[in-house]
Amino acid sequence: MDLTELENIVTKEAADRKPCEIRCCIAAGCLSANSNDVLSTLRTAVEDSGMADRVNVVGVGCMRLCSQGPLVGVDIDGPLYCRVTTDNASSIVATLNGGQGEAETFEREDPFFAKQTSLILKNCGCIDPERIESYIATGGYRALHQALFELAPSDVIETVTRSGLRGRGGAGYPTGVKWATVAKNSGERRFVVCNADEGDPGAFMNRSVLESDPHRVLEGMAIAGFAIGANQGYIYVRGEYTLAIERLNKAIKQAGRMGLLGTGVFSSPFDFRIDVRIGAGAFVCGEETALMASIMGQRGTPTPRPPYPAEHGLWGMPTLLNNVETFANVPDIIRNGAEWFAEIGTPQSTGTKVFCLTGNVVHNGLVEVPLGTPLRTIVEEIGGGVPNGGQIKAVQTGGPSGGCIPQEHLDSPVDYESLGKIGSIMGSGGMIVMDDQTDMVDVARYFMEFCMDESCGKCIPCRAGTVQMKQLLSRIVDGSANRADLERLEKLCDMVSRTSLCGLGQTAPNPTVSTLRYFRDEYESRLIDSTTAKANSNGATCQ
Ligand SMILES: Cc1cc2nc3c(=O)[nH]c(=O)nc-3n(C[C@H](O)[C@H](O)[C@H](O)COP(=O)(O)O)c2cc1C
Ligand code: SF4
Ligand code: FES
Repeated sequence: MDLTELENIVTKEAADRKPCEIRCCIAAGCLSANSNDVLSTLRTAVEDSGMADRVNVVGVGCMRLCSQGPLVGVDIDGPLYCRVTTDNASSIVATLNGGQGEAETFEREDPFFAKQTSLILKNCGCIDPERIESYIATGGYRALHQALFELAPSDVIETVTRSGLRGRGGAGYPTGVKWATVAKNSGERRFVVCNADEGDPGAFMNRSVLESDPHRVLEGMAIAGFAIGANQGYIYVRGEYTLAIERLNKAIKQAGRMGLLGTGVFSSPFDFRIDVRIGAGAFVCGEETALMASIMGQRGTPTPRPPYPAEHGLWGMPTLLNNVETFANVPDIIRNGAEWFAEIGTPQSTGTKVFCLTGNVVHNGLVEVPLGTPLRTIVEEIGGGVPNGGQIKAVQTGGPSGGCIPQEHLDSPVDYESLGKIGSIMGSGGMIVMDDQTDMVDVARYFMEFCMDESCGKCIPCRAGTVQMKQLLSRIVDGSANRADLERLEKLCDMVSRTSLCGLGQTAPNPTVSTLRYFRDEYESRLIDSTTAKANSNGATCQ
């Protein structure tokens, strides 16, 4: 493969394009609502209507409004139909001949779409994730070619550093600094690992990207491999993500056949192979040392850091480990330049972030916005607020390691620093909206129970502490705890976060600490020796 052949694919795709394209979402959310049958119905209807020469029906990835699927769009800017069924799908085809569409429509001008900025998700819902040509037609694999033939590895690292990109897996560590560290550490081999474990409850950002635009991630990984001097990459995906795994494997094969992965990428001296490794759905395996142990066939439990993977990773070799979305940003940064990327977002938190907006909110689905966007814009304007005019009580960000942000902080910008100041974290992008009926102590208990179940048991503070904290929270919820129990809970939160071995235990108390910070009255009023008003079991205070 060379640049001319790449261009030939782009030209052929453009020439083959029919005047009208009907796009049907075949990502996991819509598939679970039978979008495969809708796709077949649409294809049959186009054949039967005699419009097959001018209308193409294509299966595409996630169109973001997952709660209203199956979604079907006519062209990029035509009507967008939601909750399409096999009964009303053919009416969509009939509209092309002046007929009446029977399926519900969703305005593309709605703030849900209009207020988003698409970098990571720009191909999602537009291209066919199962055809590499579809990705190449959008300019895909051009950045890899540019890196290999126009830049030195150190230039690639320098560009990523200047872009200000920070890791999207949770902690926001500067990506360029990580790449430079791996590149300077010596070892017989180096490895690239993509973390697609995505274990946070309610989060499916990474899954959607892998199902909808897998080549973007492969291209980002190959560029990283070139930059740090690695010839082997692994994508660690949780086993539940069967469709993502299937599409990734297909994408890897297609790229290999075209000479875009494997031996002599673009006929250059650079070899880069990618293999998929499947996890068994343990949350702790998203932690980098546990993940690497799992890839090496060992039990997936964390080990102390240092040494960090950059120095002593897979099989003791320098290893670069980044999140799916981190790699997905790389091709555009190389193509458009570091300055282009750095201008999006805030000076400290550049670029966009994909969030998974769920909970008591009108529009559940994927949202991509520049970092620094106020939380209110995301949940009220894009998300449409609480259904039926209800009030937002809090927004949970960062999953089990994050916190609950009360409604008085809705105007806070969503970036790494600002979220930290108000007691939460960005995490990998889970965002759960809670209405005024939500019992915040029960929310804290839910997340603690999750951490307790997912604790690997290797260290005592987390293994025993999460059980005790969960028991104390349960007693507060059912009204059988006293003030001494609450004090014990607070001491345990502090002790477990300071003494646990890995991030799971260190951050397990966060949802409890943040709800204590902002909703302390909900705890206090339920204590049996409470001096304040007592609460009923729903958490609503009785006067
Ligand atoms: C318990 C636990 C679970 C984690 N799960 C994930 C995950 O699912 N995906 C992810 O990218 N990072 C996860 N992380 C963070 C990773 O350890 C690592 O920091 C991250 O993948 C680095 O990539 P980045 O620099 O691109 O953010 C988790 C950390 C902990 C402590
Ligand atoms: S903090 Fe929890 S999950 Fe992490 S090593 Fe200790 S027991 Fe395992
Ligand atoms: S899965 Fe179809 S819109 Fe998200």
